[in-house]
Amino acid sequence: MTMRVLVLFLAAATLVSARQPVRFKKAMVVAQEPHAADAGVDILKSGGNAVDAAVAVGFALAVTYPVAGNLGGGGFALIRMADGRTAFLDFRERAPLSATRNMYLDPGGNPTRDSVAGWRAAGVPGSVRGFEAMHRKFGSRPWSKLVAPSVKLAKQGFVLSDHATRSLRANAKDLEPFPESKRIFLNNGRFFEMGDRLRQPELAATLARIAKRGARDFYVGETARILAEQCAANGGHITQEDLRQYKAIERPVLKGTYKGYEVLAISPPSSGGVGILQMMGVLEGSGYEKTGPGSARAIHMLAEAMRRYYADRAEHLGDPDFHKVPLRGLFAADYVGRLRSGIDPDHATPSAQVKAGTPAPGAEPTETTHFSIVDAQGNAVALTYTINGGFGNGVTVPKLGFLLNNEMDDFAVKPGVPNMFQLIQGEGNAIQPKKTPLSSMTPTMLVKDGKLRLIAGAPGGSRIITGVLQVILNVVDHGMNIQEAIDAPRFHHQWMPDKLMLEKGFSPDTVELLRSRGHTIDSISGVANVNGIVLDGTWLAGAWDGRGDGKVAGY
Ligand code: GLY
Repeated sequence: MTMRVLVLFLAAATLVSARQPVRFKKAMVVAQEPHAADAGVDILKSGGNAVDAAVAVGFALAVTYPVAGNLGGGGFALIRMADGRTAFLDFRERAPLSATRNMYLDPGGNPTRDSVAGWRAAGVPGSVRGFEAMHRKFGSRPWSKLVAPSVKLAKQGFVLSDHATRSLRANAKDLEPFPESKRIFLNNGRFFEMGDRLRQPELAATLARIAKRGARDFYVGETARILAEQCAANGGHITQEDLRQYKAIERPVLKGTYKGYEVLAISPPSSGGVGILQMMGVLEGSGYEKTGPGSARAIHMLAEAMRRYYADRAEHLGDPDFHKVPLRGLFAADYVGRLRSGIDPDHATPSAQVKAGTPAPGAEPTETTHFSIVDAQGNAVALTYTINGGFGNGVTVPKLGFLLNNEMDDFAVKPGVPNMFQLIQGEGNAIQPKKTPLSSMTPTMLVKDGKLRLIAGAPGGSRIITGVLQVILNVVDHGMNIQEAIDAPRFHHQWMPDKLMLEKGFSPDTVELLRSRGHTIDSISGVANVNGIVLDGTWLAGAWDGRGDGKVAGY
């Protein structure tokens, strides 16, 4: 082969193996549903900022992505304005006032399905208050203009994609028992085909009231009245008083460092930010990356860091308003140093031998979807919100047209017994009235030299934290572009069950090397569904995750 032919061949090989992200010059929205991403870019083009666009995308997803987009759920927004101001808004669901510790146990003391399916599973929704709080603090366009695109999508309908119809069919058994869900989302049992138009007139009416009267309508107005009335009639717990008392809460943004980057992450009741910072701390200086991405040694070191964090998560994390979290102790240098030195590079530590650590007390008082947005001024939003399981608790509220969450299952329904993500959780996350269930949602940003460099986040239950971590490490440690970083196969370890769960794509030789280190290997269909944006000073490069659907929209 001549040198010229060889060079051409290598170039072609690189092009084939390296998927490129989508690039735009000024502004970008990456979301898991294309109509919603476009709605956000329309707001940006008409002069709205990233927070305005986030509100519009959040409302639009409630129409076009019912598996996770919502009015009946809650979430977290991490915001960084171009002038360096940051904010974390917690608008996650809260336990109703009538909630009790054992509300989901049968007379024998065993967990029932009531925290997962049906009216009783819903916590008090926070999304609408959250969007209002973001808008009040940083928004620049009139509220009604930001809700308007979702009203139109619900009223006129939108064309269902292949992905959307498959997701509806796949969740049919959870939606079917509830007449409004069956009628609206399963076409009364006839199912939708790709290309059909989904119109949601009840949801359009609810959104139109919110557009006109603001979040008041949802919490103290007509929507609140109907929601409470329907809950009372169907055995749900949410009352008008629960809705009236609901507040979005501004909480501390966690700031850490990793290899010269400032890491902006969110504090409890998310377990994600603490996890990202602890695991980065364990990895930094370990040299784990030297054997390359996907190598058995790198996977082993990461899995051991994951195992140790999830043991801490089970013991120490919970709603900080109810439970003392040793927050900074969990990622303080001496503590992560002790964790790092406890890792044997050649042998897996059985999870039964890994107990939560005793970090120093904190110095301070105390199916989901993610989207990432950057506007032309450099303001940015990373927002993850959820109704927990796909289509939440399966219930569409009659007359209102939106699905309710099953976020009560994110509490430790029975401390020590695994939840729907097989997560074991402790006393700190036991049910109490008005408490927020612990979350794994992990919207994260990286900043260098005062400039935003990366945004990432994901749905995926307990796997969100490890999924987001691996994408960030692929960019920072392995020099991948954001699309390669997202496409690369991922793995997950959460302490219990003591299994290293691998996506497809790892070589059998690597798997064998991991087994020989003592890992019990299991397969997993997907570790989260990460999307993100990398900013290199010239371009915005965005990518969505082929494990689901999505769009990078921008200009
Ligand atoms: N509902 C998933 C989470 O918040 O972690």
